Amino acid sequence: MKVLFVCLGNICRSPTAEAVLTRMVEDGAELGVEVDSAGTAAYHIGKAPDPRSQAAALLRGMDMSQLKARKATKADFNEFDFIFAMDQENYSNLLEIKPEGCKAGLQLFLKQYGTLGVTEVPDPYYGEEDGFEVVLDLLEDGCHQFLKSISHT
Ligand code: 4NP
Repeated sequence: MKVLFVCLGNICRSPTAEAVLTRMVEDGAELGVEVDSAGTAAYHIGKAPDPRSQAAALLRGMDMSQLKARKATKADFNEFDFIFAMDQENYSNLLEIKPEGCKAGLQLFLKQYGTLGVTEVPDPYYGEEDGFEVVLDLLEDGCHQFLKSISHT
């Protein structure tokens, strides 16, 4: 099963989601789940995650330094089983390139799996430092629920 997380720049939210789910899969020996991330914008292609995202993730034991930003493509819709948008704008942009009859299900991630009362992962890029903690909290909750849902099917 292949899961793709998508945000705008692929340097803050979606690589964090990739790191969180990858770690949960490794810890739980949830075999056969592959995880990747991408952005809807091209600004940061080839760059490692934002240093603030990396620092926050490292405090929770996740090393994101080897990840590199890429742009989401039409082809991703037939490569992945689940494509999870971080916010409504990412979702709308993905819907525009989603091919008819594709393999992937496209969902607003927290709307589907979040239990903390918000449906979007807020963009931390221009915000306060604690935004990166909020992103991690929301994604840990959503990823936990997602894994629970696939383990019951
Ligand atoms: P992300 O955050 O979508 O979570 O990776 C952002 C990164 C860069 C920009 C905006 C959001 N930017 O405008 O460059």
